[in-house]
Amino acid sequence: MSSGDLSYDRARHESRGISPGAGAKVTKRKREFDEIGYWSEVKLEIVSKYAHAYSTILANQRGLTHYYIDGFAGPGFALSKTTGEWVLGSPLNALNVAPPFKRYFLIDLDGGRLDSLKRVIGPRSDVELLKGDCNDVLLRKVFPQVRFEQYRRALCLLDPYGLQLSWKVIAAAGRLQTIDLFLNFPIMDINRNALWTRPDRVDAADAKRMSALWGDESWRQAAYRPSAQGSLFGDVAVQKVSNDAIVEAFRTRLRDHGGFKNVPSPMPMRNSSNAVVYYLFFASQNDAANHIVTDIFSRYAERKGA
Ligand SMILES: C[S@@+](CC[C@H](N)C(=O)[O-])C[C@H]1O[C@@H](n2cnc3c(N)ncnc32)[C@H](O)[C@@H]1O
Repeated sequence: MSSGDLSYDRARHESRGISPGAGAKVTKRKREFDEIGYWSEVKLEIVSKYAHAYSTILANQRGLTHYYIDGFAGPGFALSKTTGEWVLGSPLNALNVAPPFKRYFLIDLDGGRLDSLKRVIGPRSDVELLKGDCNDVLLRKVFPQVRFEQYRRALCLLDPYGLQLSWKVIAAAGRLQTIDLFLNFPIMDINRNALWTRPDRVDAADAKRMSALWGDESWRQAAYRPSAQGSLFGDVAVQKVSNDAIVEAFRTRLRDHGGFKNVPSPMPMRNSSNAVVYYLFFASQNDAANHIVTDIFSRYAERKGA
């Protein structure tokens, strides 16, 4: 990784005695912390870079208050597969942003992970740690506090492992018109579980999770096209389209149905075999935000990985 903001932040944390501690577990059975590859570090760096720009701009807009929201916050640290060192997770990166956000809403389903985060952050009146399914917590507790007429704005990161995110959250963020969104579109998990070349064999529960992320069943039309050589889907023979076509359909959906004015082409995030694991989407109402993120994405686009 480059010795950019991230290394500086880590050094600052370590010098203040903040680290996951000697008991930190990175085992296959019960992982308190994740091991992350090169591209996940790139994702953290991209989000962190934008968060700095965002917070600087918003802090200068008189009358506006800006928040940070992390729907899948994690425990605060991850172990780098590239360097073997601890890396700050997305919530700690956000807490390092200067000028700071006014409030931080950090959500995780896993109580143990949230406890780790709490230990690291310590008592802070501007941080709200919320345990639960973010698809519920965001809609009920967090988004109602970021209304346009309250002159509030937020940067929100939705970074699930796989098919755990509901379109309802994305659409609610779009309706609010106050939220800049980074979103992990988990194409590998989607292909593994829902978009099979034999769609008739997909488990009903997995198809349901796909519909939850897409917002309805139109992913079936977006992901398959009629083809005489294809497999049967109901009475029709179909063939699966490319990843690029599926991702472009989701991008169009974020604009046309999600209510986001700007959605630049997402960044593919790869594994060590160079296969795309997920696409990092950005969606916002703001043209300047779009330019900043397009510029950040372009600076990372030529990276080849570790
Ligand atoms: C990929 S990790 C997030 C990593 C974090 N964004 C970072 O970069 O440091 C995903 C996290 O989401 C949590 N999670 C899974 N399903 C969830 C849900 N429905 N709501 C909230 N958190 C969830 C997991 O416990 C895990 O900590």
